[in-house]
Amino acid sequence: MADAAAADVDTVTSVPVVIVGAGPAGLMLAHRLGRAGIEAIALDTRTRHEIETTQRAGILEAGVARDLVETGVSDRVLRDGHEHQGVELRFAGRPHRIDFQGLVGASTWLYPQTDVFIDLADARKRDGGTVHFGISGTEVLDITTAAPRVRYTAPDGTRHEIRARYVVGADGSRSMCRGLVPEDRRVRYTKEYPFAWFGILAEAPMSAPELIYAHSAHGFALISQRSTTVQRMYFQCDPQESVDAWSDERIWETLQARVAGEDGFRLEEGPIFEKTVLPFRSFVQQPMRWGSMVLAGDAAHTVPPTGARGLNLALHDVKVLAEVLIRTLGSEGDSALDDYQPRALQRVWRAQNFSYWITQLLHTAPGAEPFDLQRQLGELDNVVGTRAGRTYLAEQYTGWPTGTGD
Ligand code: PHB
Repeated sequence: MADAAAADVDTVTSVPVVIVGAGPAGLMLAHRLGRAGIEAIALDTRTRHEIETTQRAGILEAGVARDLVETGVSDRVLRDGHEHQGVELRFAGRPHRIDFQGLVGASTWLYPQTDVFIDLADARKRDGGTVHFGISGTEVLDITTAAPRVRYTAPDGTRHEIRARYVVGADGSRSMCRGLVPEDRRVRYTKEYPFAWFGILAEAPMSAPELIYAHSAHGFALISQRSTTVQRMYFQCDPQESVDAWSDERIWETLQARVAGEDGFRLEEGPIFEKTVLPFRSFVQQPMRWGSMVLAGDAAHTVPPTGARGLNLALHDVKVLAEVLIRTLGSEGDSALDDYQPRALQRVWRAQNFSYWITQLLHTAPGAEPFDLQRQLGELDNVVGTRAGRTYLAEQYTGWPTGTGD
């Protein structure tokens, strides 16, 4: 496919859509477009192995789990995932269950992001989709024209060019693509937090049937799961914390103190085989479209992990984007793409609000005064002790309908 006009690359390929980033958002977009007969090539600087072995969040909205099955990605989520019909909020040493099913008729699925990725990567392979992992030297060119191009170097050192009608930047929270929107034409909304999460994976039995979000005078903790024998837990820490300062014993002591209560609840302990400090922030860049480039998922927005919104939000973006791109590349033309941003952004800002709200509700800010702690307990009591409060939490945590103002 070598071409005289591009003598400095080894091959030139043309497809309607090229996707920079082959995480869940990029691959799900490629899958959805593929089902409509639109070819998309996805590229990622990481190897498939790197993506598969990086721990990420674990909660899917029921609608996202259903989409994986109904769009033909895989039905593995129904076999290996676990439906959770509620969560526990623990504060002042007492447990309070929020019954999603009873309150809003919805549930969530515990199914790790790494499994979502594996299912999508397998589906791309099965369906003959092209994904290049482990690439480098990505250049995105001519996005203000109707003929954008992406150049990259393959793992074998050869250089390639993909010509497309649209480029999608689904390249995650450290997105290169979003930097291509000129500085004077973009707005970046950012909120930093004075705490991070310390995440662990432990070989231990489950401590509870559902997730536990714990507020305590010592700070926040989240008890999640991966399987009957591997558990995922987090506790609030300083963003500068070093994992080397944390022995297994100190970690268990910290976690136990944050969930301790008058009911005598204790976590099941076991050997810890992964420890990571995870800083987070709230971030949105607008616009989500610049010329022939569109941003999706973490490239355009990130949320604190507390509300379990990040992956769900990214997959919502690409659901809307796939639908809009299919119309755009069909009979409607370029102006149809303008529908993407308003529909995606409505959910983005709802999720930003919820993620911020539940983060400040459950974490202890450094230097918090006794008043702050008591006020938080008052707010938590309002959440669990009123039907409106419980319903609000259930509705926000389980997700919103797609593209409606309801
Ligand atoms: C996880 O299981 O990793 C997880 C669950 C819920 C959250 C964040 C992370 O809010």
